[in-house]
Formats: sequence, C-alpha cells, structure tokens
Amino acid sequence: MKCRVCREPAIIDLARHNANFCAEHFQQLCRRQVEKAIKDFDMMKPGDRVLVAVSGGKDSLALWDLLVDLGYSADGLYIGLGIGDYSDESLGYTQRFADERGLSLKVISLRGELGYDIPTAAAATRRVPCSACGLSKRHLFDRAALEGGYDLVATGHNLDDEAAVLFGNTLRWEIEYLARQLPVLPARAGFPKKVKPLVRLTEREMAAWCIVRNIDYIVEECPMAVGNRHLGYKNALNAIEDQSPGSKASFYLNFIERMAPLLVGHSGGSDEELGACQRCGSPTPNEVCSFCLLVEKSAKHEPVPVEFMTRAGRKKGR
Ligand code: AMP
Ligand code: FES
Ligand code: ZN
Ligand code: ZN
Repeated sequence: MKCRVCREPAIIDLARHNANFCAEHFQQLCRRQVEKAIKDFDMMKPGDRVLVAVSGGKDSLALWDLLVDLGYSADGLYIGLGIGDYSDESLGYTQRFADERGLSLKVISLRGELGYDIPTAAAATRRVPCSACGLSKRHLFDRAALEGGYDLVATGHNLDDEAAVLFGNTLRWEIEYLARQLPVLPARAGFPKKVKPLVRLTEREMAAWCIVRNIDYIVEECPMAVGNRHLGYKNALNAIEDQSPGSKASFYLNFIERMAPLLVGHSGGSDEELGACQRCGSPTPNEVCSFCLLVEKSAKHEPVPVEFMTRAGRKKGR
C-alpha cells in the first residue's frame, strides 16, 4: 500500500478517494478539506476569534488542533454535563490537550455553576437526556461566545453526523429542519455565528487524525446516548458506503450544493417574534426561555444518579 502522492508506505486507505496516503499527505488532505469547508461557506477569516466547543472526543479535539494548525486563534469551551465518570474522564482528556499545547480552555460545570446535571434535568423535565443536554449546550455555547466577545462558535460535527441527521430528516421529509441543515448559521440578534468545519471529513478520518497527531481522546460514547436513533442511521449509511464508497459524501455534500438552495425561506420562525427572556435576556418567543425553565425545574429536583437514566439502568430500576 503506497501513498498516492509520494509513493512512500501508506498508513490509511480512503476508499471514497480511491487512494492511500502516508501520514504527511493524509494530514494535508484533512487540512485541505477543512480549508475548503471554511472557504465555501465563509465560516471564518484570519484574525477571527473562534470558540471551539470541545467534548473530549476525537472530533472536537481534532477540530481544535486543525484550526490552531491552520493559524486560527481558537480557545476551547468545555461543558461539564455531570454524566458520572464519562464527564470526569472527558474533562481530563480536554484539559490535558489544552495544557500540553498551551491553549486556553474555559470550563463550565452545570452542577457547580447552575445547580443541576443532565441526568437530573432529564428526570425533572421528563425530556430524553439528549434533548436536555442539547438545549443546555446550545444555550451555554451562545452565552459564552457573546460574553467572551468571540466571532463564532465551532463544533466538531463531522460528515457522518451531518449525513445521519440529513437521512433522518429526509426519511420524514422535515422540510423546516432540512432548510436549516447548512454547516454555517449566521449571527443574528442574541445569537453568535455557528460553524461546522469538519463536514467534509468522516468519523474514521478524524480518529486517524488523532492517531497521527498523538491526540488522546475519550473513546466511549456518552452512556445516555446509547441506542439513540442517529446511531441506527449511521449504521445504515455505513452499510451503503461499504457497497458504494463515496455515497455518504455525495448524499450530504450534494444536498448542500443542489437541494439546500431550493429550500431557502422554508426554515420557519422569524426573529421578529422573539423578545428577551425575563431571567437571562436571551431571545425567546415566551416570557422565560426554555433554558431558564429547565434550570429552574432541574435545580429544585433531588440529584439523580446517571445509572438511573441510562437504557440499561432504566430497564433494571424502573
Ligand atoms: P454531540 O452532540 O455529542 O454529537 O457533539 C457535537 C459537538 O458538540 C461536538 O463535536 C463538540 O463540538 C460539541 N460538544 C459536545 N459535548 C460537549 C461538551 N460537553 N462541552 C463542549 N462542547 C461539546
Ligand atoms: Fe448529551 Fe450524552 S452528551 S446526553
Ligand atoms: Zn505521502
Ligand atoms: Zn432565559
């Protein structure tokens, strides 16, 4: 197996490019894919202050590394979700990554600073954990970016993530969601710009990036997300990809190029209906925003251990 570029021994085969690459040229390919995503969608420009949301997993650590490598000024933001050992370990990986490279990391602990955690929030609000988690993360990313004077928030969603979401939205023809699936959301009143620079790279490529760059990351998935719908969609897309390499990328990237422009104006909702939350001031159609309601309910609830809220625990205990 030889590198397509230099003919030295290759370390990875990428069927969708019908080629193999050595460590150096694999990194070059990843950098180019990120640069292309940034340029095509006008995600950021040199000199922008970027806040990277980092979970301790391979994608977001690889993203932080790639952005710094490409010369962007990027600080990290980690949210401690209080999901037992999983959260403690993922903070450890994130903090070590930052310390070893002298990068600046802001840590927000839900339990320490807001008086709740995700297992408790899920129980208190009877939401599925990922929904309480998504709401908390989105709100805190926005707030941290605005308060810190950042130009944008970057997340580590990769091609597999975006293709799986697209697959789910397509199965149900969720036109409003489909119209909002672009990898960049422009800033608007009360919300920072949000970007996903890894949309041209797969999960496997990001794992390989971490190996060649010596990045240690948490391998386990969140215990509360086990069995969620997107994992099924990812498996289905991987089966198609095995049969016909390149399908995943063309499904997502051709949607963005050919279909998304036809959906402009179908994303529903408009900022004019939004007022300011009475508690936190963030934009909301109601008097109090859903995040403040979630905090209020969850902080009053007695703490619920993570084991109670995982699938296995739910089956055993209740
Ligand atoms: P997920 O929703 O877990 O698939 O994560 C998607 C992206 O959200 C990751 O690539 C990160 O950029 C960000 N993210 C997830 N969890 C956290 C966390 N605990 N703190 C900060 N950012 C996170
Ligand atoms: Fe959010 Fe698991 S990381 S529920
Ligand atoms: Zn090479
Ligand atoms: Zn609020």
